[in-house]
Amino acid sequence: MTTLIYGAYGYTGERIARVAAKRGLDIIVAGRHGTKTRGLGVELGVESRVFEPSNANSSLNEVETVLNCAGPFEQTADPIVDACLDTGTAYLDITGELPVFEALAERDREAEEAGIPLLPGLGFDIVPTDCLACHLHDRLPDATQLRLGVEARTDVSGGTVASAVEHAGRGACIRRDGVLERATIGSHSQEIDFGNGSRNAGLLPLADVSTAYYTTGIENIETYMALPELATHTLQLTQPLSALLAVTPVKRTVQQLARWLVGSPSERGSVFVWGEASHGEETVCSRLETPDPYALTVNATTTALQRLNAMDTLPTGFETPAVVFDADFVLGLDGVEGFHDDPVTGSV
Ligand SMILES: NC(=O)c1ccc[n+]([C@@H]2O[C@H](COP(=O)([O-])OP(=O)(O)OC[C@H]3O[C@@H](n4cnc5c(N)ncnc54)[C@H](OP(=O)(O)O)[C@@H]3O)[C@@H](O)[C@H]2O)c1
Repeated sequence: MTTLIYGAYGYTGERIARVAAKRGLDIIVAGRHGTKTRGLGVELGVESRVFEPSNANSSLNEVETVLNCAGPFEQTADPIVDACLDTGTAYLDITGELPVFEALAERDREAEEAGIPLLPGLGFDIVPTDCLACHLHDRLPDATQLRLGVEARTDVSGGTVASAVEHAGRGACIRRDGVLERATIGSHSQEIDFGNGSRNAGLLPLADVSTAYYTTGIENIETYMALPELATHTLQLTQPLSALLAVTPVKRTVQQLARWLVGSPSERGSVFVWGEASHGEETVCSRLETPDPYALTVNATTTALQRLNAMDTLPTGFETPAVVFDADFVLGLDGVEGFHDDPVTGSV
């Protein structure tokens, strides 16, 4: 299976391309910048292709799978998916952007008809939380409520900040009775035990509000992030200012600044992932600890490519990682121990 890695000279794309090449995967590196793309291709000893996302159609010959690593994905996913649908090429990416998941889910039937999978979210967002959601659903199949949260002790890349800015003007989001609703970032503040003592956490728009719904069918979903109490109050007070980021020229300037100012992450952090599913009084709670998100992203994408390579036929339509590879997929990644399950509470 030949995989074209688009955005291959970005911070994350390059790390994925290097590990993919080392694991013997058949890859082509691609991106919009000629010198950077060709230079990486020469260094890794693989073919390179230079094109803009809007011209992807003519650049996918003899490619079975595209792995899109060029974000913000709200700017790149649509044109590349168009090309994948036209050419019958499987589409994978590492987005963590909620609107991108929703947009791709709407293209499920097109992908079914084209006979290809649309499999976004193969990075830290959303593999561990998606697998945890699936695990919680396995523990309590008739759950009607799901809450997921992360406590990250890590740095982020400029590209990740740029992608966060892409959506910052829109606030948080929860799913209620199957429908997405707007909410205030940092609201619903509460104490959550992520596995190392209680921490203050508030609502943050993690993409699981979209994906966990497709993975589990649970219709009420909230996502949290551990935040110092001061940060929660600051986020609530500055929410009106975030509307400025909905103005495109302001957003593009802040994104450019982020790319200049934010250095490479140290890659020494770890992340605590928490989830709770309930049905009436009955509740199950499980936790996971993962290594640094960038290391996990590189491992998850390259492992996913190997797993897809080994399949006789690929799935078709919109898919989530836990549905394609199951809840235990995350447990096979370096540095991830098993799920830590609390006993069921409230059962009769
Ligand atoms: N799911 C996860 O957990 C996870 C983990 C890591 C990263 N990510 C996401 O992956 C993306 C890349 O992150 P990064 O750390 O690699 O950032 P980065 O170093 O800034 O790299 C971004 C790459 O995307 C390309 N790109 C951006 N906009 C483009 C466009 N409109 N058309 C074509 N190419 C475009 C860039 O090319 P130019 O330099 O030519 O602009 C560059 O190659 C971000 O959206 C980030 O949030 C997600």
